[in-house]
Amino acid sequence: MAMDTPYNYRVVKQFTWAAIIFGVIGMLVGVIIAAQLRWPTLFGGIDFLSYGRLRPVHTSGVIFAFGGNALFATSYYIVQRVCSVRLVSDKIAAFTFYGYQAVLVLGVLSYVLGYSQSKEYAELPWLLDILLAVVWVAYAYVFFFTIGKRKEKHIYVGLWFYGAYIIAVAVLHIFNNLALPIDWLHSYPVYSGAVDAMAQWWYGHNAVGFFLTAAFLGMMYYFVPKQAGRPIYSYRLSIVHFWALISIYMWAGPHHLHYTALPDWTQSLGMAFSVILWVPSWGGMINGMMTLSGAWNKLVTDPIIRFLFVALSFYGMSTFEGPMMAIKEVNALSHYTEWTVGHVHSGALGWVAMITMGSLYHMLPRLYGKTEMYSTRLIFVHFWLATIGIVLYVTSMWVAGIMEGLLWRETVADGSLTYSFIEILGKKYIFYFVRFLGGAFFLSGMCLMAYNCWKTVAGAKQPAAQLQTQPA
Ligand code: HEM
Ligand code: HEM
Repeated sequence: MAMDTPYNYRVVKQFTWAAIIFGVIGMLVGVIIAAQLRWPTLFGGIDFLSYGRLRPVHTSGVIFAFGGNALFATSYYIVQRVCSVRLVSDKIAAFTFYGYQAVLVLGVLSYVLGYSQSKEYAELPWLLDILLAVVWVAYAYVFFFTIGKRKEKHIYVGLWFYGAYIIAVAVLHIFNNLALPIDWLHSYPVYSGAVDAMAQWWYGHNAVGFFLTAAFLGMMYYFVPKQAGRPIYSYRLSIVHFWALISIYMWAGPHHLHYTALPDWTQSLGMAFSVILWVPSWGGMINGMMTLSGAWNKLVTDPIIRFLFVALSFYGMSTFEGPMMAIKEVNALSHYTEWTVGHVHSGALGWVAMITMGSLYHMLPRLYGKTEMYSTRLIFVHFWLATIGIVLYVTSMWVAGIMEGLLWRETVADGSLTYSFIEILGKKYIFYFVRFLGGAFFLSGMCLMAYNCWKTVAGAKQPAAQLQTQPA
């Protein structure tokens, strides 16, 4: 195959477009399920549009299809650039692209048809689990063997984070999905009872730790210094918080199972590790913020810097909130309430989606040999749509969640509950509506991004108006 550049950008472009397209789809499904919670009879009784089937389409769509494709794209981009070599194999890299998309498309199909193994974020039927494991091993091969033939002596810290994510996700995926197949689509897990729950949340929490955190920190460590035009604030801090983060995350899973059949000491251990986790998390946040601190003036003129700044702010907020929610007494109030959903989306929208959007805006024009995106003004508009969307989503869920938790505790003189479940649900509808609005804002920003990216690639000129005016 003819080599278009010294690097394999073809596969990076493919993953980038997959991320953008799945971003629109995954968020659209998020808005649909948000609407279903507000208007529960929205689609009548159509099975494949029911909430239970669409919810995993949303979670997998945004985490694995939007986030995952962006991680493939950026890791392949960064590994080539900081190692100054082409990917070790174009064919195997192409296999990871087609294989990963096959898993995603077949996964979505299986969910809407009602096939799920009922483990959150790991719903895939066993056959697709095996295909994913094969794709992941191929990914590990491409990534690590490219590092192996690098021309630069040093291995940049961003690659350490990506490397940890690739190894950890393989281990988590394989052990959480160990199962005995009973036919082509169904299986029984090898674990049972509380052990099964522990395996699932060891996986679930580390999916947050390694997929939604470590890998996106890898992205942050490359794109923040690049966009700010400054070296990383402290290289030493990046190494220290890397080792602290990856060794502490593995032990914090039981905070998802407070007050359950899990042994009490395990819950307390999970709580203690979660509280400690605050420190290395903020190590990363502070390092990113201090790198940006010499470039505050760019916040006025550069919308990409704004995305990165807001992402780091939400990373800081959600990693303060998480350890707090892991304290048993706080979790007694927050668990099963909308507060958890608010926490999830302050991390997911505020951190994961914003850092991804900022990074893709930086990377896309460079992939296509352009100097900048088609429209900087549209990036500004996207920034505001996304920021307003996050604020509406997260604050409505915080208020709804804390209200819900407090109302559940209200008792009358004889000790019986003051409010029935359905009464409390009724009080949440207004917040569900605000969340739906916030989601619609966020989604429209994502659609604008898709349009802007398309115009950039199509080679359109910047609109004349933009060249003359400097947005605030
Ligand atoms: C120091 C870091 C963090 C800690 C200690 C932490 C802790 C927690 C706690 C205690 C819960 C509630 C468990 C429950 O009551 O069911 C939770 C839920 C969750 N968190 Fe975090 N969190 C952290 C950071 C993050 C970040 C940065 C993200 C996203 C990018 C995130 C995503 C989630 C998700 C997806 C859930 C919901 C899981 C589920 O029930 O399906 N967390 N986290
Ligand atoms: C347009 C934007 C979005 C909207 C409207 C939206 C909406 C929703 C809704 C309605 C739920 C179900 C909550 C429930 O069961 O009570 C949900 C769950 C979830 N979403 Fe989103 N979402 C959006 C974007 C994202 C993004 C970008 C991510 C990740 C990168 C994400 C990750 C999740 C996760 C992990 C859950 C499960 C939470 C849990 O079990 O506690 N969402 N989302």
